[in-house]
Amino acid sequence: MSPPARLGVFGDPVEHSRSPVFHNAALRAAGIDASYVKIHVPPEKAAAAFRALPQAGFIGANVTIPHKAAALEAMDEADDYARRSGSVNTVVVQGERLLGFNTDGPGLVRAIREEFSVDLRDLRVILLGAGGGAGRAIAVQCAMESCERLVLVNRTLEKAQALAAELAPSFRSDRLVGPVERLQVIGFEEAALREQLAHADLIINTTSVGMRRTDAPLIPPSLLTPNLMIYDTVYASGRTRLLDDASAVGARCANGLSMLLHQGALSFEIWFDRAAPLDVMRGALMEEEV
Ligand code: ATR
Repeated sequence: MSPPARLGVFGDPVEHSRSPVFHNAALRAAGIDASYVKIHVPPEKAAAAFRALPQAGFIGANVTIPHKAAALEAMDEADDYARRSGSVNTVVVQGERLLGFNTDGPGLVRAIREEFSVDLRDLRVILLGAGGGAGRAIAVQCAMESCERLVLVNRTLEKAQALAAELAPSFRSDRLVGPVERLQVIGFEEAALREQLAHADLIINTTSVGMRRTDAPLIPPSLLTPNLMIYDTVYASGRTRLLDDASAVGARCANGLSMLLHQGALSFEIWFDRAAPLDVMRGALMEEEV
């Protein structure tokens, strides 16, 4: 008999979610009598579905697209990062109360350390797609880490400008003033990208552009140089165009699988207050990848 469903991921759609595979492996390895399921919830039912978690005997849940912002609304309490990023991806049931966290930003920090052996806070970051939910969560993480530089790149400039206004206090500091502003907003124009890439270490893509081979390049390949690190949060199998172009010039590249893994491991740590069996989770994820 399989263990009772006491954890799950809320999404719409949710069929594609890879979380059950590695969370169930982790639960088995840790000897926890619970299983992790996919829960398809349309937007109009999301609030009620969160409220039903205590009654259903759940330990907690993960939240994916498009419910992360609604999840924050449905929580009784949320931590500072979840509130600032405007989204919750991890719910803890505490009696009748719902506590919200977001492990996406901290998961990215761990992924960057694992992939490139550097800390996000030491990097000059170019963030592509600063207008979406994922972009916002990463920008807030960069601000909370007070990373060296942050350049918000977005097609709709106003969205990135509004975000920059919010984050500005984190980038005002006594640090030695460098040749360029620590926080900037640009569009996808080639000249602006060229100028900013000269003062950057890491490019993070949070847009879905590049998943289809026919997509136009987000960044002209001629602007990519071998000193750059490129992290694409997309983790669909196969490489995105950006990663292909970057590895062709010898830049270090990674896709979003490591962020997926680490945000999941951090959720496990929050639910069970113990270290996650990371190797087991990684193994389960890789096995599915083959
Ligand atoms: P969410 O993550 O909240 O679901 P989204 O609509 O999927 O949002 O968009 C995510 C990000 O990808 C946004 O920054 C979006 O840019 P806009 O703010 O200008 O809409 C970006 N994006 C989507 N399609 C794009 C494209 N073809 N070129 C450039 N950026 C794009």
